Amino acid sequence: MNRLLASLSALPLLVGSVQALAQESEADVRARETEQQMTDDERFSLLISVLGTVEGGALPPDPRVAHLENPSAGWTPGIPRLGIPDLQSSDASMGVTNPGYRPDDEGATAFPASIVVGASFNPELAREGGVAIAREARIRGFNIMLAGGMNLARDVRNGRNFEYYGEDPLLSAVLASEQVNGIQSQQVVSTLKHYTLNANETNRHWLDAIIDPAEHRESDLLAFQIAIERSEPGAIMTGYNKINGEYAGGNRHLLNEVLKGAWGYRGYVMSDWGATPEWQFALHGLDQESGAQADKFLWGSEPFTEPLRQAHAQGKLPKERLSDMVRRILRSAYAVGIDKWGPAPTVDTAKHDEIALDIARQGIVLLKNEAALPLATDEPLKIAVVGGHAQQGVISGTGSGAVAPVGGFVSVTEIGGAGLMGKHRKLFLFQPSPVDELRKAFPSAQIDFDPGYTPAEAALTARRADVVIAFGIRVEGEGFDLPDLSLPWGQDAVIDAVAAANPNTIVVLQTGNPVSMPWRDKVRAIVQAWYPGQAGSRAIAEVLAGKVNPSGRTPITWPMSLADTPRPTLAGLGTPWGTPITIRYDEGAEVGYRWYAKKDVKPLYAFGHGLSYTRFSYDDLKISAGAAAGAKADVPAGGETVTASFTVTNTGDREGADVPQLYLTAAPNEKRMRLLGFERVVLKPGESRQLTFTVDPRLLARFDGKANQWRIAEGAYRIALGKSAGDLLLTESTKLEGGLFGK
Ligand code: BGC
Repeated sequence: MNRLLASLSALPLLVGSVQALAQESEADVRARETEQQMTDDERFSLLISVLGTVEGGALPPDPRVAHLENPSAGWTPGIPRLGIPDLQSSDASMGVTNPGYRPDDEGATAFPASIVVGASFNPELAREGGVAIAREARIRGFNIMLAGGMNLARDVRNGRNFEYYGEDPLLSAVLASEQVNGIQSQQVVSTLKHYTLNANETNRHWLDAIIDPAEHRESDLLAFQIAIERSEPGAIMTGYNKINGEYAGGNRHLLNEVLKGAWGYRGYVMSDWGATPEWQFALHGLDQESGAQADKFLWGSEPFTEPLRQAHAQGKLPKERLSDMVRRILRSAYAVGIDKWGPAPTVDTAKHDEIALDIARQGIVLLKNEAALPLATDEPLKIAVVGGHAQQGVISGTGSGAVAPVGGFVSVTEIGGAGLMGKHRKLFLFQPSPVDELRKAFPSAQIDFDPGYTPAEAALTARRADVVIAFGIRVEGEGFDLPDLSLPWGQDAVIDAVAAANPNTIVVLQTGNPVSMPWRDKVRAIVQAWYPGQAGSRAIAEVLAGKVNPSGRTPITWPMSLADTPRPTLAGLGTPWGTPITIRYDEGAEVGYRWYAKKDVKPLYAFGHGLSYTRFSYDDLKISAGAAAGAKADVPAGGETVTASFTVTNTGDREGADVPQLYLTAAPNEKRMRLLGFERVVLKPGESRQLTFTVDPRLLARFDGKANQWRIAEGAYRIALGKSAGDLLLTESTKLEGGLFGK
């Protein structure tokens, strides 16, 4: 690139920094002053992280990390003379990970997967989990958590959906931002990731994700925009994929124009590990290359330091841009306070186990219940527990986010597969086991376990029982999409056989995504436990026994079949690792339930669906429209807003939690569905609560790509209150004046 082009591409940044100067925070001032004192060597050294482990496998270790007491995912040397600490990053969203390179580490709390937090619809839990994770990070010296995974679940085959919060932008943003707030409250920087449209794992390094740019703003990008506003994450991690032809880490439009330009993001942008094939990404908005050896291995590219140094010497990397990269990293360090650590915090593992348990209790979803649950705890029931290694433990998703629990896994079985992540794909089992926890929850019952080894053998056990609890598991993970919606290892046939042998069958699933459940009409109850973490067995037993009243709501739509989803066939699935592929996200902003509403297709279980052992009613829905004042954190200034108030009442005879959901169902001349608000409320029998939601105007708007602003169309808007996207109970309409606002 010649000098002119280089300076042109830096232009939006310079404009951005001129504006920023006018409103510098204390962290900005410190970052600017420190950067001014740095030598170029010091500057360049901050612009990469290397793998923070001495066991690189295919990736050669960096000798400088040999001294680290606690190896991690990424390490950047600090600059002691300027008080800048080493930057040490670790995964992340479900607890502090240890993929085997810290043999003396006794394990961390293995929290439930993020999809479980998604199903809880409870931002407080996301925050509590974030605080706990950050404290466990700090005692190991990790000051950056690669957390806040928040890609939207666009495809129920995506192997990594369990690491995210579901398919809705608002829900994902609210939960991810609370996790980040929790982490950063402990003086640990958190990322939000993977920016953006990293919605499938198939050949992810060679995947070009195609989307209409305006619709992108209304979906995945809106999720990031809201989450960034609510939590000011220190860093944004880019995805592996391309978006509309340009790699995420070098995507000028998404980084310079949208993230740093339109949204004014002040933190730094780091790449994913092995997602920086060329140094020019620095000109397009990337501030730090991560795990540099992975780039060398995958792309043959030299770590950022040398090529950037040369580019700088040749005038291809402007001084302003170099300073900007460094200042962004420093600014985040100062804003979050990683340079001000006092003594290490105390970690109360029992308390963290309680948090893990609470997340599982609130995120388990009762999908179906034909008066089968809860099971009586005081009767001498003969219970047959079938399959899913339920005599050993509950399972986890796999990949960089998998957490080794305190005391270790009860068993680990290699599964394997193609690509760099194949060796990380394992059947991990956390103790205690569901069978042990069921024995505690049902002390009067006789519990027999059958491994579900063959359908015929399982049916023999099922026939002898009063009730069958069949477990279905599917290991999903980073680097792998699912080819279909079936359960592996013949489990669908086993469940079918036990349901035929004993109609009083309850199924408990541990999967990261919806599955097809060909046996679903033959069983009396279905409990979706996702990947419920180290306390998962107890939460499952408590739900089955009615000690916990289920309140989880599915954050992903369950399709009747793949034929009903936006991509019945997944492009590139089955091509060998390393093949360039293109996946078109032609559903645009109509992700998940939005798609089913637009196409008028009824899913198997709608987004937001989840049953309870009590009942709730909604009354007095009142809607009003007005100018968005920006007075509340969740409603930015500009545009118009809608305020909805209503009463929710527990009309059953048990205490329980409900999640009333407010949706837009029609806009002028357009059928359009958007989740506008939600709140989880705990109510005693007979208790009522009045709730008021004030809507983010962007959820009422469309993004006008020409004006580069949000636009509310003038006219009537239909708003509905419901139990899920498929169960709307009260509807009102209101008029909006319309107009352009925001960016
Ligand atoms: C994942 C990231 C993770 C990084 C570091 C990558 O494989 O995509 O989410 O943070 O590894 O472990």
